[in-house]
Formats: sequence, structure tokens, C-alpha cells
Amino acid sequence: MQRPAGSHVIAGVLGSGTGPEQQVVDPSTGDTLWTYRADTPEDVERAIDAATAAGTGWAGATPAERSTVCQRLAAELEGIAEDLAQAETAQAGKPIRLSRGFDVPGSIDNVAFFAGAARRLDGMAAAEWSGTHTSTIRREPVGVVGSIAPWNYPLQMAVWKTLPAIAAGNAIVLKPAESTPVTTLMLAEAASRAGLPDGVLNVVNGPGPLTGEALVGSPRIAMTSFTGSTAVGRHIAALAAANGTRLHLELGGKAPFVVFDDVDLDAAVRGAVAGSLINAGQDCTAATRAYVHRSLFDDFVSGVADLMRSVRLGPTRDEDTDLGPLASFRQRDKVAAMVERAVRDGAKVVTGGRIPAGALAVGAYYEPTLVVGADQGSEIVQDEVFGPVLAVLPVDSDDEALALANDVPYGLAASAWTRGVFRAQRASRELVAGTVWINDHIPIVSEMPHGGAKGSGYGKDMSAYSFDEYTQVKHVASDITGLARKEWHDTVFRTR
Ligand code: NAI
Ligand code: MG
Repeated sequence: MQRPAGSHVIAGVLGSGTGPEQQVVDPSTGDTLWTYRADTPEDVERAIDAATAAGTGWAGATPAERSTVCQRLAAELEGIAEDLAQAETAQAGKPIRLSRGFDVPGSIDNVAFFAGAARRLDGMAAAEWSGTHTSTIRREPVGVVGSIAPWNYPLQMAVWKTLPAIAAGNAIVLKPAESTPVTTLMLAEAASRAGLPDGVLNVVNGPGPLTGEALVGSPRIAMTSFTGSTAVGRHIAALAAANGTRLHLELGGKAPFVVFDDVDLDAAVRGAVAGSLINAGQDCTAATRAYVHRSLFDDFVSGVADLMRSVRLGPTRDEDTDLGPLASFRQRDKVAAMVERAVRDGAKVVTGGRIPAGALAVGAYYEPTLVVGADQGSEIVQDEVFGPVLAVLPVDSDDEALALANDVPYGLAASAWTRGVFRAQRASRELVAGTVWINDHIPIVSEMPHGGAKGSGYGKDMSAYSFDEYTQVKHVASDITGLARKEWHDTVFRTR
């Protein structure tokens, strides 16, 4: 991985913060890849200044002009795709097949989508609703957006936060996670080369309490967009409330995986392993709780355990590696502690549940883990683990499966597995989640929205729906009578 030449981009200039030192660590080896200095509140102020100054001009650019910049950005990213994949793998511990096959192409596709979407900011048709005015809709940028992104999909999250914001004519100050800033800096530099005016996309770096709070606590931003933990999301919501700042929160999930008794068992087993181990389980939509009809329970558990045991842990740059480390040692220890507590509370580990010994011990690795016997109310079933861990629970009816699936504080994603069309329809209606998959779990597309219900937050990333977050709708009502004496004045004073 090439070390970035600076740790922030403010007004188009790559520079360095003046705060405490931060380390970017390769979690597959424990090696420090890069040391940089965090941005202080003063650095963040400068970034907000830059966004404020650039915002008016960019808001006035035509949709075609904004689209052209986004198209060029997609091409710039395509040109550095392999460097992006290598950097993502190094800083986040992703197997290179995942970075090359999912993170980088998914990010580029999202940029390309917003190049098109920038030219389609739709609204209602103009009409004379009152009979005496023509009503039109304007979709206007909200202003300066302060965004905070997490470390699980650093480039994709930076793209998800940036593209709808700039496509709609906003300026943005973005803070990636302090442990994974590299590909976000590469994105900002690519945006400069693509012709994005200086100051429209600013990147600051550093810890949440220092750099993040200076950004989202500022009364000078018009909107906060956050993806990360529920605890931090609620803290940020309180900061936003103090200023009345518009808010978009994506706070993770605890996706259920519902297996009905008419299922294609092989498909469900494969889906559960892929859906729970993707990105080492550090995916807010990952399959975390499988509710399996009791008649299939033993076969499902043994099928999942066998397939999990075949998954190859290894060095992240090795093409044959299926599963890399967790993104940090801190995250690995959190996952291990949650599994230990589950066992202490009576659950049983069928496979995994260990930190691997040998050559992989230098990294933040954790074995693919299958847990049975956990209670619905237990921590491992109720709380986000964010690791390669799947809990399987037996159920006796469709009613029970759907009720337990909904019985957690989260509502980001869910899947249902069945050959029955009515069961599929029922599950898609009754599962409380922002996304429901039928006979699959995980795939996303740029054209469709991503976002949660309940404790998973509100607002949408991706798709044209994201413009509902990043634009404000203005109603313009123009009198068409030309009369000084308007009929409605009679409600205020006698007009005749
Ligand atoms: P986190 O919520 O602390 O980190 C996400 C982002 O928030 C980072 O950029 C961080 O610097 C920033 N941040 C932290 N404190 C902040 C503050 N006071 N003000 C402003 N920004 C702040 O997540 P963490 O602690 O790294 O991970 C803990 C758990 O959170 C994970 O185990 C997982 O369950 C969940 N999580 C969920 C994610 C999702 O995609 N929904 C992503 C990352 C974590
Ligand atoms: Mg934290």
C-alpha cells in the first residue's frame, strides 16, 4: 500500500492535521502501515469554511455539469482500481478477492449510478391545485453536509456518503474511521482530478470524540449523515438536536435468516454461510440469527458447520483466502468476548469460537463460528456482534419464526427462505426491515435503497431515494389571477 502524502483534503489541498498521532494497522499482520496526525477542531473549522465557500457555486452548477464530474470520477477510480483494492485489503484486512470483486467495483458502480441520477431529480408535475396559483417543486441542496463513515467498508461508505450529496449539489466534509482513512483520501484526490471544484469534497481524519464531534457538533453544518454503532449514533443525534441539524443515521443491524420447512436446504445452508461470513461478518446486513424449522434443524446445523469448516482463513493478499481477520484487534476481542459470554449463558459452539494459533496468530483472526442453544433474549441473539458468528435457533411454526425474527431492537435487513410464493409474500410484508431478501441474503444494487427501521436508524443510502435525505423540497406557488383583491383575504379583512 502506498502511504498517502497527506491526511486531510481541505479546499482541494492535501495536507496534515496538527492533532495527536494515529496509526493505520494491517490487521492481518499487526504491522503499522502509516502514522498520521489527527485533525483538530481548528482543522475541521477550516474544512467547514472550505465547504461553505464552495457550496454556492456547486449548487448553481447544472445537473449535466455535476454528472460530468461524477462520470469522470468513475473513470478515475477505474484507473486506480487495483491500487484501491490493495489499500482496502491492507488497512481493513479484507481478502483481496473481496476487495477486487465487491468493494472496489461496487464503489465505482455507485459513482456511475449517481452520474446518471444527478440528471434526474424528479418531483411532482406543476399544477394549479388551488385554481389560482401554479405550484412547482424545486429540489434544492441542503448545504454543507457533515458525514461520518465506519471502517468495515471504508471506500464504499465514503462513496455512499459523498455521491448523493455532491450529485444533488451539496458540499461535504467527510470523516472516515480513524483506522481506515486511506481509500477515502484516494477518493478525494481522484475527485480533484475529475474536476470536482476545490472545497466541494473535504476529508478530515481523526478519532470520533476529537475530530468527529467537532464536525457533527458544529452549528455551521446543515446536515449530519452517520454510519456506525448505535451508541455513537444516539450521541450524534443528541449533538444534532442541540443545533436542529438534519440527520441521517445508519446504525447497524441484527439480520434474521428465516428458514421455512419447504426450503431448498442446500441453498439455505450456502446462503447462511456466505451471508454470515461476508467481510468477516462485519456487515450491518450480515445474517446473524437463523430461525430454522425444527424438522430441518439438525440437517441445517450440520450443513452449515461443514461448510464453515471448509472456509479458508489466510493471508489477505492470497487469492485463495476466503476469510481474513477482523478489521482490528479491538473488534476481534469484542467478538471473542461475546462468544465467551454466550457459552457462559448456556449456548454451545458447534464449530469455531477460537482465535487461530500458528501463523495467523499475528493477525486479528477469528474462526467462523456457529452457535446453537442460545436463548432469544440473550446477548448473542439480541446485540450486534459484527464478526463471523451465526446463531441458529429452532422454531415450530411460521408465526413463531416471524415473531422471533422481529423480536430485536434492530431492523436493517432480513431474509426468508422458502419455495412457497405465499410464504415469501407474507415474510416480505411482515419482516420489519429496510431490506428483505427472498432466497438470498446480502446482494445490493446502486439503484435500490439501503437503510433501516427501528434501532437501525432512518434515511436511505444509495438509489434515488437518497436524494430525499440530501435535498430539500421547496414548494413555489405563483399567483395566476393578477388580482390585488384575492378571495381568501376575506378571512382576514372585509374585501367588499
Ligand atoms: P463507531 O460507531 O465508534 O465508529 C464509526 C465512526 O464513528 C468512526 O468514524 C468513528 O470515528 C466515529 N465516531 C466515534 N465516536 C464518535 C463521536 N463521539 N462523535 C463523532 N463520531 C464518532 O464504531 P466502533 O466503536 O468502531 O465499533 C463498535 C461496533 O459498532 C461494532 O462492533 C459494530 O457492532 C458497530 N458498527 C456498525 C457499523 C455499521 O455499518 N452499521 C460500522 C461500524 C461499527
Ligand atoms: Mg467507538
